Amino acid sequence: MNNPVRRYPSQLASIMLHVKLGRPLFLLLLLSFAASEDSDFTYNGFQGVNLTLDGIAQITPTGLLMLTNETKQNQGHAFYPFPIHFKNPGSDDGNVFSFSTTFVFGIIPPYPDLSGHGIAFVIAPSRALPGALPSQYIGLFNESTNGDSNNHVVAVEIDTIQSKEFSDINDNHVGIDINSLNSSVSVPAYYTDHNGVGQNLTLISGKPMQLWIEYNGEEKKINVTLAPFNVDKPDIPLLSFKTNLSWIMKDPMYVGFSSSTGSVLSSHYVLGWSFNLKGPAKKLTLSQLPKLPRVGPKEKSKFLTIGLPIVIIVFVSTVVYGVQFIVARKRKFAELVEDWEMEYGPHRFKYKDLYHATKGFRDKELLGSGGFGSVYRGILPTSKIEVAVKRVSHESRQGMREFVAEVVSIGGMRHRNLVQLLGYCRRKGELLLVYDYMPNGSLDKFLFNQPKCLLNWSQRFRIIKGVASGLLYLHEEWEMVVVHRDVKSSNVLLDNEMNGRLGDFGLARLYDHGSDPQTTHVVGTVGYMAPELTRTSKATPSTDVFAFGAFMLEVACGRRPIEPQASIEDLVLVDWVFSSWSRGTILETVDPNLGTDYVVEEMELVLKLGLMCSHSTPAARPSMRQVVQFLGGDAPLPDPSSLGLRATGHVVGEGFDDFFMSYPSSFDKTFTQTQTSAAESLISTGR
Ligand SMILES: *[C@@H]1O[C@H](CO)[C@@H](O)[C@H](O)[C@H]1NC(C)=O
Ligand SMILES: *[C@@H]1O[C@H](CO)[C@@H](O)[C@H](O)[C@H]1NC(C)=O
Ligand SMILES: *[C@@H]1O[C@H](CO)[C@@H](O)[C@H](O)[C@H]1NC(C)=O
Ligand SMILES: *[C@@H]1O[C@H](CO)[C@@H](O)[C@H](O)[C@H]1NC(C)=O
Ligand SMILES: *[C@@H]1O[C@H](CO)[C@@H](O)[C@H](O)[C@H]1NC(C)=O
Ligand SMILES: *[C@@H]1O[C@H](CO)[C@@H](O)[C@H](O)[C@H]1NC(C)=O
Ligand SMILES: *[C@@H]1O[C@H](CO)[C@@H](O)[C@H](O)[C@H]1NC(C)=O
Repeated sequence: MNNPVRRYPSQLASIMLHVKLGRPLFLLLLLSFAASEDSDFTYNGFQGVNLTLDGIAQITPTGLLMLTNETKQNQGHAFYPFPIHFKNPGSDDGNVFSFSTTFVFGIIPPYPDLSGHGIAFVIAPSRALPGALPSQYIGLFNESTNGDSNNHVVAVEIDTIQSKEFSDINDNHVGIDINSLNSSVSVPAYYTDHNGVGQNLTLISGKPMQLWIEYNGEEKKINVTLAPFNVDKPDIPLLSFKTNLSWIMKDPMYVGFSSSTGSVLSSHYVLGWSFNLKGPAKKLTLSQLPKLPRVGPKEKSKFLTIGLPIVIIVFVSTVVYGVQFIVARKRKFAELVEDWEMEYGPHRFKYKDLYHATKGFRDKELLGSGGFGSVYRGILPTSKIEVAVKRVSHESRQGMREFVAEVVSIGGMRHRNLVQLLGYCRRKGELLLVYDYMPNGSLDKFLFNQPKCLLNWSQRFRIIKGVASGLLYLHEEWEMVVVHRDVKSSNVLLDNEMNGRLGDFGLARLYDHGSDPQTTHVVGTVGYMAPELTRTSKATPSTDVFAFGAFMLEVACGRRPIEPQASIEDLVLVDWVFSSWSRGTILETVDPNLGTDYVVEEMELVLKLGLMCSHSTPAARPSMRQVVQFLGGDAPLPDPSSLGLRATGHVVGEGFDDFFMSYPSSFDKTFTQTQTSAAESLISTGR
């Protein structure tokens, strides 16, 4: 060790103080010295290492630090257990010393082009990241803490998914994050070799790579350098960023890693790690690091060399049957692929895989069938990902190209309140869409028809807020405006944490494409369709808001928007809530299953907001952004009586009779009908 006195004049001053102040203070100073001098460690593998782990992080028997373990929507943290004094002890606003760290990591994705969300090296004020979320939050922050200067968190993200909400540049980048997932600076992953030639790196290649992070406390500059495994540290850093960390870091701080998965079961590993305060991190001994698990198919067996002669005989004798079998099989697994689809390669699933995943679309795997087709549960053969496969029959090829482009673009949407679309497959007369599997099924099952398990109010309120934020994302935060067109409780699915996720978005367009452009289709579900929809048949964000209003009332009242069993005046849920509200007894409409177990203010907010959203004049409805603000308590709800609310005037017309006859037996009844006088009379007779 160098002489600390020469390097740290402020400590020298403190030591001299003891001459005057006596022994106890001196001991104290020695102790704090010991702590800060101890911040130098090197782990070539983590076998037997004492790290503070949480979430799904673990150390494997071979000594790999496994931050995520093939569990979806989850996160893992690993911290060095001891505090590190980046500043002179106790001087919260002092200067941050230089430090340096290096680690080798590996990301093993289930698909060559699809992965979890990445790894971050973190410096944080505690050995935990409270309130942090998985998926795009990489286990660092949540919606409300992202960007908050009270976080005091510095991270270097190795990010493998592009999250537009944090302005990510692509799905393969390294960035410096200060209190926020909106990186201060980020660049695509590459390194400059010793000949000065830049080479791209794929972070999710499944191969180990090494990262170096160095901070110069005098220049106030962070360098981040990346290289493939077994390559010496490049001279030119990937990132060099000037920032005064003294503003951000407190004393003491903890160092570690955070990682998260989203819809895809990937594993994130750290193989070795070294850290040093006030000096360069020790080199890792690469040959001692544990090996990453193999990726790709298992090794071929020795069968070929031993059994080859027999195989030939068997082969010859069965070749005739074989050819027949192959022809039949080819037909069975036939799919349509055209040249223009080549660019969508990664989003295309093989029919054969989907067939095997769903055990041949067995009835036992059927999750439900709705207006757009039947949905099956499946487990993809190689990756073992659990998926939901939706079969949509589609005769016409017209518009297919645009539709597939749209499907692929929808697949790029990522939001924790949307069901992730993973890809598609096309066959003659049929389109298959592959989604994330949602273990808890759809929300309506928890609300109606003697549910097995009842949702309490806080769960319901959280689901409402979640769906609102998903819908806001579709309307305003995604690169295109997407109108959902069929918001309702049976299209809200619940993930394993009972978060509400909106499914089936953008699909209603399927019925527009490939149909005769002269006849416009009204797509939606009776009771959720805004009155103007039957006149203009033009779905807009505002018609979604209308449906969301009906949805909110549905969740609060535990009743479908149109209740066939109710008396005529209470038939339409909105009208019933409206009349109770105008009598000043709005809480009468609350789901009786909840008893009195709810927060009155929240309930009133939801019911009144439901009425506002159901306003018959589109312009009077709030936008989803306002809805989210009202629900989050960020803006006060205007007094509904000032809004000119009226009952919708839905009156039973001829069309309803047919509807009632089929209603009780139909699961997820979706109403699709050309705009004819029948549709007119169905909804708006009383207008
Ligand atoms: C690991 O470190 C923590 C934090 O200092 C300590 O409480 C714990 O006893 C240590 N465990 C072992 C096995 O050394
Ligand atoms: C991942 O870790 C969690 C918690 O430690 C455990 O319950 C789960 O079984 C693990 N999953 C796998 C695939 O190892
Ligand atoms: C975010 O995390 C903070 C800190 O733990 C917590 O207080 C807050 O409730 C969390 N917010 C959300 C939306 O999860
Ligand atoms: C992050 O970037 C997004 C998209 O540009 C922006 O809407 C959001 O306000 C930013 N958040 C923070 C905390 O800077
Ligand atoms: C590296 O990636 C960038 C995009 O990130 C691309 O423009 C460039 O052509 C790639 N270079 C090589 C050598 O592949
Ligand atoms: C960061 O990289 C630059 C070269 O781009 C170098 O001059 C500087 O010394 C480096 N700083 C640290 C802290 O390594
Ligand atoms: C960096 O921040 C510290 C503490 O907040 C301050 O004392 C120092 O002057 C700053 N340095 C520069 C170069 O801005």
